Amino acid sequence: MQHNPNHPSNKVVLSTQKAYNALFTKVRNVETRSADFVFYSKRIMRLLAEDAVAELPHDEVTIATPCAPSLPGLELLAEDNVCAVSIIRAGDSLMESVREILPRCKIGKILIQRDESSKEKKPKLFYVKLPENIKDMHVILCDPMLATGGSAVAALKVLIEQYGVAPEKVIFANVISCPEGIEHLKQVYPLVKIVTACVDESLNEEKYIVPGLGDYGDRFFNSL
Ligand code: PRP
Ligand code: URA
Repeated sequence: MQHNPNHPSNKVVLSTQKAYNALFTKVRNVETRSADFVFYSKRIMRLLAEDAVAELPHDEVTIATPCAPSLPGLELLAEDNVCAVSIIRAGDSLMESVREILPRCKIGKILIQRDESSKEKKPKLFYVKLPENIKDMHVILCDPMLATGGSAVAALKVLIEQYGVAPEKVIFANVISCPEGIEHLKQVYPLVKIVTACVDESLNEEKYIVPGLGDYGDRFFNSL
Protein backbone atom coordinates (compact mmCIF):
# COMPACT_ATOMS: atom_id res chain seq x y z
CA MET A 1 0.00 0.00 0.00
CA GLN A 2 1.28 3.47 -0.89
CA HIS A 3 1.95 6.07 1.77
CA ASN A 4 -0.54 8.88 1.25
CA PRO A 5 0.22 11.80 3.60
CA ASN A 6 -2.99 13.59 2.60
CA HIS A 7 -5.35 10.81 3.66
CA PRO A 8 -7.49 12.10 6.54
CA SER A 9 -6.93 8.95 8.63
CA ASN A 10 -3.20 9.00 8.07
CA LYS A 11 -2.28 10.77 11.29
CA VAL A 12 -0.95 10.56 14.79
CA VAL A 13 -3.38 11.85 17.39
CA LEU A 14 -1.54 13.21 20.42
CA SER A 15 -3.52 12.60 23.59
CA THR A 16 -3.01 15.69 25.74
CA GLN A 17 -4.09 15.95 29.37
CA LYS A 18 -2.74 18.33 32.00
CA ALA A 19 -2.69 15.41 34.44
CA TYR A 20 -0.09 13.62 32.30
CA ASN A 21 2.70 15.92 33.52
CA ALA A 22 2.68 14.57 37.08
CA LEU A 23 1.61 11.04 36.13
CA PHE A 24 4.41 10.53 33.61
CA THR A 25 6.92 11.90 36.13
CA LYS A 26 5.93 8.98 38.38
CA VAL A 27 6.00 6.20 35.80
CA ARG A 28 9.19 7.35 34.10
CA ASN A 29 11.08 7.60 37.40
CA VAL A 30 13.42 4.61 37.81
CA GLU A 31 12.80 4.79 41.59
CA THR A 32 9.06 4.08 41.21
CA ARG A 33 8.34 0.53 42.33
CA SER A 34 5.80 -1.77 40.71
CA ALA A 35 2.75 -1.10 42.95
CA ASP A 36 3.04 2.65 42.32
CA PHE A 37 3.87 2.07 38.67
CA VAL A 38 0.59 0.14 38.31
CA PHE A 39 -1.36 2.86 40.14
CA TYR A 40 -0.05 5.78 38.10
CA SER A 41 0.10 3.99 34.75
CA LYS A 42 -3.54 2.89 35.18
CA ARG A 43 -4.48 6.54 35.63
CA ILE A 44 -2.60 7.38 32.41
CA MET A 45 -4.16 4.49 30.51
CA ARG A 46 -7.68 5.46 31.52
CA LEU A 47 -7.18 8.95 30.07
CA LEU A 48 -5.50 7.59 26.95
CA ALA A 49 -8.28 5.02 26.48
CA GLU A 50 -10.86 7.82 26.58
CA ASP A 51 -9.01 9.61 23.78
CA ALA A 52 -8.77 6.41 21.73
CA VAL A 53 -12.50 5.73 22.15
CA ALA A 54 -13.22 9.31 21.13
CA GLU A 55 -11.67 8.49 17.72
CA LEU A 56 -14.34 5.84 17.03
CA PRO A 57 -17.22 6.90 14.79
CA HIS A 58 -19.96 8.83 16.58
CA ASP A 59 -23.47 9.86 15.56
CA GLU A 60 -24.65 13.44 15.87
CA VAL A 61 -27.66 13.42 18.21
CA THR A 62 -29.93 15.93 19.88
CA ILE A 63 -30.82 15.51 23.53
CA ALA A 64 -32.88 17.33 26.10
CA THR A 65 -31.35 18.35 29.41
CA PRO A 66 -33.51 18.76 32.53
CA CYS A 67 -33.28 22.50 31.84
CA ALA A 68 -33.24 22.80 28.02
CA PRO A 69 -35.34 21.02 25.37
CA SER A 70 -32.68 20.61 22.72
CA LEU A 71 -28.90 20.27 22.86
CA PRO A 72 -26.66 18.83 20.10
CA GLY A 73 -24.22 16.11 21.08
CA LEU A 74 -22.38 12.94 20.03
CA GLU A 75 -23.11 9.29 20.72
CA LEU A 76 -20.81 6.33 20.10
CA LEU A 77 -22.14 4.42 17.10
CA ALA A 78 -22.11 0.79 18.26
CA GLU A 79 -20.19 -0.33 21.32
CA ASP A 80 -20.69 -4.03 20.64
CA ASN A 81 -19.20 -3.53 17.19
CA VAL A 82 -15.85 -2.59 18.74
CA CYS A 83 -13.10 -5.09 19.49
CA ALA A 84 -10.26 -4.19 21.86
CA VAL A 85 -7.23 -6.29 20.95
CA SER A 86 -4.27 -6.56 23.29
CA ILE A 87 -0.71 -7.34 22.29
CA ILE A 88 0.11 -9.59 25.24
CA ARG A 89 1.65 -9.14 27.72
CA ALA A 90 1.83 -5.39 28.36
CA GLY A 91 -1.12 -4.66 26.07
CA ASP A 92 -3.48 -6.42 28.50
CA SER A 93 -3.18 -3.53 30.95
CA LEU A 94 -4.26 -0.95 28.36
CA MET A 95 -6.96 -3.24 26.97
CA GLU A 96 -8.52 -3.41 30.45
CA SER A 97 -8.71 0.40 30.53
CA VAL A 98 -10.56 0.37 27.20
CA ARG A 99 -12.88 -2.31 28.57
CA GLU A 100 -13.71 -0.20 31.62
CA ILE A 101 -15.00 2.46 29.23
CA LEU A 102 -16.65 0.04 26.76
CA PRO A 103 -17.89 -2.86 28.91
CA ARG A 104 -19.80 -4.38 25.97
CA CYS A 105 -16.88 -4.42 23.52
CA LYS A 106 -15.43 -7.68 22.20
CA ILE A 107 -11.94 -8.77 23.25
CA GLY A 108 -9.13 -10.23 21.16
CA LYS A 109 -5.60 -11.27 22.12
CA ILE A 110 -2.39 -11.58 20.16
CA LEU A 111 0.72 -12.82 21.97
CA ILE A 112 3.86 -11.27 20.52
CA GLN A 113 7.23 -11.04 22.24
CA ARG A 114 10.28 -9.13 21.09
CA ASP A 115 13.24 -11.44 20.65
CA GLU A 116 15.63 -9.61 23.00
CA SER A 117 18.52 -11.84 21.84
CA SER A 118 18.33 -10.52 18.25
CA LYS A 119 20.01 -7.25 17.32
CA GLU A 120 16.91 -5.86 15.64
CA LYS A 121 14.60 -7.10 18.45
CA LYS A 122 12.44 -8.87 15.90
CA PRO A 123 8.92 -9.78 17.08
CA LYS A 124 7.87 -13.41 17.52
CA LEU A 125 4.19 -14.33 17.13
CA PHE A 126 2.97 -17.10 19.46
CA TYR A 127 -0.81 -17.01 19.72
CA VAL A 128 -3.88 -15.36 18.20
CA LYS A 129 -7.46 -15.43 19.50
CA LEU A 130 -9.88 -13.01 17.84
CA PRO A 131 -13.65 -12.87 17.32
CA GLU A 132 -14.56 -14.63 14.05
CA ASN A 133 -16.34 -11.62 12.56
CA ILE A 134 -13.69 -9.11 13.57
CA LYS A 135 -13.44 -7.90 9.97
CA ASP A 136 -16.81 -6.18 10.44
CA MET A 137 -15.69 -4.37 13.59
CA HIS A 138 -13.76 -1.30 14.62
CA VAL A 139 -10.59 -2.34 16.41
CA ILE A 140 -8.65 -0.62 19.19
CA LEU A 141 -5.25 -2.31 19.19
CA CYS A 142 -3.63 -1.86 22.61
CA ASP A 143 0.08 -1.78 23.43
CA PRO A 144 1.63 0.76 25.80
CA MET A 145 5.04 0.87 24.02
CA LEU A 146 5.81 1.55 20.33
CA ALA A 147 9.59 1.15 19.94
CA THR A 148 10.84 -0.31 16.63
CA GLY A 149 7.23 -0.90 15.63
CA GLY A 150 7.97 -4.57 14.94
CA SER A 151 5.36 -5.89 17.40
CA ALA A 152 2.62 -3.48 16.31
CA VAL A 153 3.22 -4.22 12.61
CA ALA A 154 3.17 -7.98 13.30
CA ALA A 155 -0.17 -7.62 15.13
CA LEU A 156 -1.59 -5.43 12.36
CA LYS A 157 -0.51 -8.01 9.80
CA VAL A 158 -2.64 -10.61 11.60
CA LEU A 159 -5.64 -8.27 11.85
CA ILE A 160 -5.47 -6.86 8.32
CA GLU A 161 -3.93 -9.59 6.12
CA GLN A 162 -5.23 -12.67 7.95
CA TYR A 163 -8.56 -11.52 9.35
CA GLY A 164 -9.52 -8.89 6.75
CA VAL A 165 -9.93 -5.89 9.09
CA ALA A 166 -9.89 -2.61 7.13
CA PRO A 167 -6.80 -0.62 8.18
CA GLU A 168 -8.82 2.59 8.46
CA LYS A 169 -10.97 0.86 11.08
CA VAL A 170 -7.99 0.24 13.37
CA ILE A 171 -6.91 2.65 16.11
CA PHE A 172 -3.56 1.84 17.69
CA ALA A 173 -3.66 3.04 21.31
CA ASN A 174 -0.24 3.56 22.78
CA VAL A 175 1.23 5.28 25.86
CA ILE A 176 4.79 6.06 24.68
CA SER A 177 5.95 6.07 21.05
CA CYS A 178 9.05 7.30 19.24
CA PRO A 179 9.71 8.60 15.70
CA GLU A 180 11.23 5.29 14.50
CA GLY A 181 8.18 3.25 15.50
CA ILE A 182 5.69 5.77 14.13
CA GLU A 183 7.55 5.89 10.80
CA HIS A 184 7.69 2.08 10.57
CA LEU A 185 3.97 1.77 11.21
CA LYS A 186 3.08 4.55 8.79
CA GLN A 187 5.22 3.03 6.04
CA VAL A 188 3.49 -0.36 6.29
CA TYR A 189 -0.04 0.65 7.33
CA PRO A 190 -0.55 4.35 6.60
CA LEU A 191 -4.29 4.22 7.20
CA VAL A 192 -4.02 3.01 10.78
CA LYS A 193 -4.55 5.85 13.22
CA ILE A 194 -2.17 6.09 16.16
CA VAL A 195 -3.34 7.61 19.45
CA THR A 196 -0.36 8.18 21.72
CA ALA A 197 0.35 10.22 24.84
CA CYS A 198 4.08 10.84 24.15
CA VAL A 199 6.39 10.86 21.17
CA ASP A 200 9.79 10.41 22.83
CA GLU A 201 13.19 11.27 21.33
CA SER A 202 14.53 8.03 19.87
CA LEU A 203 15.67 4.46 20.48
CA ASN A 204 18.91 3.41 22.16
CA GLU A 205 21.25 0.61 21.02
CA GLU A 206 19.03 -1.99 22.71
CA LYS A 207 15.99 -0.55 20.89
CA TYR A 208 14.52 0.81 24.11
CA ILE A 209 12.71 4.13 23.99
CA VAL A 210 14.69 7.13 25.32
CA PRO A 211 13.84 8.68 27.74
CA GLY A 212 10.97 6.15 27.89
CA LEU A 213 10.31 4.26 31.09
CA GLY A 214 12.20 1.00 30.60
CA ASP A 215 10.37 -2.31 30.16
CA TYR A 216 6.69 -1.60 30.63
CA GLY A 217 5.62 -5.23 31.04
CA ASP A 218 8.31 -5.99 33.63
CA ARG A 219 7.47 -2.89 35.65
CA PHE A 220 3.68 -3.38 35.44
CA PHE A 221 3.75 -7.10 36.23
CA ASN A 222 6.56 -6.80 38.81
CA SER A 223 8.81 -9.27 36.99
CA LEU A 224 12.06 -7.29 36.93
C1 PRP B 1 7.13 -4.67 24.57
C2 PRP B 1 5.95 -3.74 24.37
C3 PRP B 1 5.63 -3.92 22.91
C4 PRP B 1 7.01 -4.11 22.31
C5 PRP B 1 7.46 -2.83 21.67
O1 PRP B 1 6.70 -5.98 24.72
O2 PRP B 1 4.86 -4.04 25.19
O3 PRP B 1 4.82 -5.03 22.64
O4 PRP B 1 7.89 -4.48 23.38
O5 PRP B 1 8.67 -3.00 21.03
P1 PRP B 1 8.80 -2.97 19.44
O6 PRP B 1 8.02 -1.78 18.97
O7 PRP B 1 10.27 -2.81 19.23
O8 PRP B 1 8.28 -4.24 18.89
P2 PRP B 1 7.69 -7.21 25.02
O9 PRP B 1 7.99 -7.95 23.77
O10 PRP B 1 8.85 -6.73 25.83
O11 PRP B 1 6.78 -8.16 25.87
P3 PRP B 1 5.96 -7.90 27.22
O12 PRP B 1 4.66 -7.26 26.80
O13 PRP B 1 5.78 -9.26 27.77
O14 PRP B 1 6.78 -7.02 28.13
N1 URA C 1 9.44 -2.43 25.22
C1 URA C 1 9.31 -1.71 26.37
O1 URA C 1 8.61 -2.13 27.31
N2 URA C 1 9.99 -0.57 26.46
C2 URA C 1 10.76 -0.08 25.48
O2 URA C 1 11.34 1.00 25.63
C3 URA C 1 10.87 -0.83 24.29
C4 URA C 1 10.20 -2.00 24.18
